[in-house]
This record gives sequence, C-alpha cells and structure tokens, in this order.
Amino acid sequence: MDKLKLDAQARVLVLTGAGVSAESGVPTFRGMNGLWEGNRVEDVASPTGFRADPQLVWRFYSLRREAAAKVSPNPGHLALADLEQRLGERFLLATQNVDGLHARSGSRRMLAIHGELFQSRCERCNVPFADAQTYFAAPMPRCEKCQGAIRPHIVWFGETLDPAHLEQVDAFIEAAGEHLVFLAVGTSGLVYPAAGMVDASRAVGGTTWLIDAAPSDEYAARFDHVLRGRSGEILPALFGR
Ligand code: OAD
Repeated sequence: MDKLKLDAQARVLVLTGAGVSAESGVPTFRGMNGLWEGNRVEDVASPTGFRADPQLVWRFYSLRREAAAKVSPNPGHLALADLEQRLGERFLLATQNVDGLHARSGSRRMLAIHGELFQSRCERCNVPFADAQTYFAAPMPRCEKCQGAIRPHIVWFGETLDPAHLEQVDAFIEAAGEHLVFLAVGTSGLVYPAAGMVDASRAVGGTTWLIDAAPSDEYAARFDHVLRGRSGEILPALFGR
C-alpha cells in the first residue's frame, strides 16, 4: 500500500469509531446487534433508561468498564499516536469511542466526543465524580454536593455533544481549508454529527479517506478514497510506521 503523502502544510483530522478498537477485542456497537441481555442498547444508553433503572444502566457500563480495562491498544491506535507526534498541532483526533484506548496509546490532541467510560458525573449538577469503579448493586452512589444520582460520563441517545468539542473540530476544518486531510476510521457513519464531518471536510476542499472493514456504500460514496480492511493493519502501513 502507498504511504499517505503529507506536505508541510497538511493538517490531519481523524474521526475514529468502534472498528478501531475491534482488533483489541472491544465489540463494535452494531456488532452486538443493538441488544444487550435482551435490552435494546438505546434503552440502556439513554436518559430515560437511566431514570427507569439506574442499576441496570450501571451494570451495563460496569461490564463495559471491566472489559475495556482488560484490553490493550492495537497497532491502529499506536499509529495514530505516532502520527500526532510527527504533526503536533497540525493533527486532531475526534473519537466516538469511550474505551480510553487512544489515551492509553499516547494520543493527547484528542476529543472524546461521545464521552469517557471511566468518568462519571452528577446527573443534576454535572460535577465530576472521582471514581473508576463498577456498581453492580445498590446503593447507587450520590453526588456529595447535591445528592443527585451519579451517571456515566457518556453521551447517550437523545443527548447532544459538547458544543466546545464541535467548535474545535469546525475550527480545525476551517483553518485547514484545502490542506485538510480527513480520515474516518472504523465508523459506520450512522450517527450524527460525527457522520457529517466528511461533508464539512469536502466543503472546504479537503481530501477525504475512509478506512473500514465493511463500509456501507452510502457512506463510502462520500469519500475520495476508500480503503477496505482492518485499521490495525492499514493505518501503520498508510502512515509508514
Ligand atoms: P459501529 O459499530 O456502528 O461501526 C463500526 C464500524 O467499524 C463498521 O463500519 C465496521 O465495518 C468497522 N470495523 C469493524 N472492525 C473493523 C476493523 N478491524 N478495522 C476497521 N474497521 C472495522 O460503531 P461506530 O460507528 O463507532 O454512540 O458507532 C458510532 C456511535 O454509535 C457510537 O459511538 C455510539 C453509537 O450510537 C454513542 O454511544 C453516543
């Protein structure tokens, strides 16, 4: 495979999804068929689901924390951290993954746009709750300040992304203009606003790449280049790591 050619002005924006962590052994979202223990994932990962049964929701995220703590970054994560080292502020990573594997592999110029599995906060006053624990049983933890329920720091179905994250992505795209190289890696392109980054990148004249094991025709059609395969193999080859 040819190496990605980046001139001195190139700015690289990378959007990653569950596929990047698949080779580490984290199941992809849609790979679970949208079901967890007979519950629709939308019913577990939503504010309504949390209000209805906080214990069930904490059990779901506790199991995900346990699973994520056991796995390790793969060569795809490492290749992205390495590219960041080379490009510095000409690099930005927006990840939809909450598993923490990018940070563990050294990525720093990174926005966890769908939240972080190992962080929690008060549902009512949003104050962060210092823990990385699991809660299988009652009593559920409460906020020390206001007694609100403690919830996972995850962007749930029906919730909006942190506007500051979206502003940083938009600013990066605008500043890069035609020098932008946008890569979407291991994401199905079904969930907005992340799925719209490719269109914003094309609108400023950037070059767009999709790297995915099994991309949909609809999403692939919106990219200049499509590389089909495993990100843990493609990214190191593409970046020459
Ligand atoms: P999906 O599970 O929808 O898609 C994963 C993508 O990874 C698919 O397109 C697969 O073909 C691809 N894939 C699988 N293994 C791969 C590999 N080894 N190398 C490369 N690609 C591979 O996951 P996301 O697109 O991340 O949101 O899902 C987006 C969001 O939907 C999630 O962040 C979650 C969910 O709603 C929230 O939790 C807010």
